[in-house]
Amino acid sequence: MDLLPIFLNIKDRKCVIVGGGKVAFRKASLLARAGGRLHIVTEEICEELSTLCVTLGGTVEQKAFEAFDLEGAELVIAATDDAAVNTAVSQQARSRQIPVNVVDQPELCSFIMPAIVDRSPVIVAISTGGASPVLTRKIKELNESFIPGRIGNLAQLLGRFRARVKQQLPQFSDRVRYWENVLDSRVPELVYSGREDAAESILLESLVARDHSVNSGEVYLVGAGPGDPDLLTLRALRLMQKADVVLYDRLVSNEVMLKLRPDAEKIHVGKQRASHSYEQETINQLLVRLAREGKKVLRLKGGDPFIFGRGGEELATLARAGIPFQIVPGITAASGCAAYAGIPLTHRDYSQSVRFLTGHLKQGELNLDWEMLVREQQTLVFYMGLVGLRTICKQLIGHGMAASMPAAIVQQGTTANQKVVIGTVAKLPDLVDKHKLVAPTLTIIGNVVKLRTELGWFQD
Ligand SMILES: C[S@@+](CC[C@H](N)C(=O)[O-])C[C@H]1O[C@@H](n2cnc3c(N)ncnc32)[C@H](O)[C@@H]1O
Repeated sequence: MDLLPIFLNIKDRKCVIVGGGKVAFRKASLLARAGGRLHIVTEEICEELSTLCVTLGGTVEQKAFEAFDLEGAELVIAATDDAAVNTAVSQQARSRQIPVNVVDQPELCSFIMPAIVDRSPVIVAISTGGASPVLTRKIKELNESFIPGRIGNLAQLLGRFRARVKQQLPQFSDRVRYWENVLDSRVPELVYSGREDAAESILLESLVARDHSVNSGEVYLVGAGPGDPDLLTLRALRLMQKADVVLYDRLVSNEVMLKLRPDAEKIHVGKQRASHSYEQETINQLLVRLAREGKKVLRLKGGDPFIFGRGGEELATLARAGIPFQIVPGITAASGCAAYAGIPLTHRDYSQSVRFLTGHLKQGELNLDWEMLVREQQTLVFYMGLVGLRTICKQLIGHGMAASMPAAIVQQGTTANQKVVIGTVAKLPDLVDKHKLVAPTLTIIGNVVKLRTELGWFQD
């Protein structure tokens, strides 16, 4: 290790910054966030830095740098564009054993400033030892995406309980086990989803319970999106890494499945048209049973769980059984397919509303409000409409839609197998046969389909 990472307490300590430009301002803002008392030495000062000092009560000396400016300082930063001044600041600080950082001149620094991911009080510091600032930035981006936004709240909550837990569990090893149990429980996710009160109640209950255990059974109802794993939300990815057991649908893509915790138990409960592998009630009861066994159960559904996903029914069973759950929305097939096909679902010139419809036939029939569907200036999106496509198109034309109305069908949208066929509402059923399209497909009908000619971008 070339450098020792440490976290410095600079609360109310004099921090000298030599320089008054934008870089000095950025450094000053950071020191101020950590409670440092700012003392700026500069001949010229930019407006932002001046305002910051006025707001925070820092001092500004508008003059050339002199050695005595460092009197009483506990941290020094040189951020001028004058190499001689920077060198002088570095030498003077080092001779007084004050930690010094000179911006972009590592040879003059006694410490460097890491890139940080700030979820105070949780702070992640990243450094490549000056080897590659771009690599540092990439690592920071990764951390920004994966560290939950509210992890700082979790740290604060656990901090509030620390003394109490110590009193209750005097043995160090018991405390370690307790905290591990808490972090494996649903407490973190409750905090991340903004339900700190519920998380706090669980901790309070666990302290009075005889075995101090935190019951961790819960269900995550997660939308897996239309297929491309890059379209998963950050929360979906996090919960996919946590779950002990996964109940997944047929429409969840293999690429998405690869993002699951490798050792998680995976149960395929997917429903295929006319060959339901698991009845809905069986799935509902399975969710309840697994959660009661204390497992973290991921119910992974294609697209968004609340759009033609029967998510509501599964949750109703959980709610009645008192099983805790959370819901993570996903990108629904309409959004995903439209985006990857280059067809905006609304457009100021062509469509002011969009309707998501099911094209699933019941006893060979579709009961839809056709009069309403043939109105102008709207886009129709049919889910589950492959088998019934001929009926849908016939009904629309029969109720007054122009036979030349543009229509598109998207097969396996957002995936490497995406296929888009464009035609008119009159010709689409024949085109589907001709191109031998297979489910899942999504049908988009409306003048917006014309825009694909200009906006198509995804290779299919
Ligand atoms: C039972 S619905 C589930 C919808 C899902 N909950 C959603 O929000 O996308 C299944 C239908 O979604 C559509 N679908 C889902 N994924 C698709 C994809 N990648 N490409 C085309 N259509 C898709 C098809 O119409 C399929 O028949």
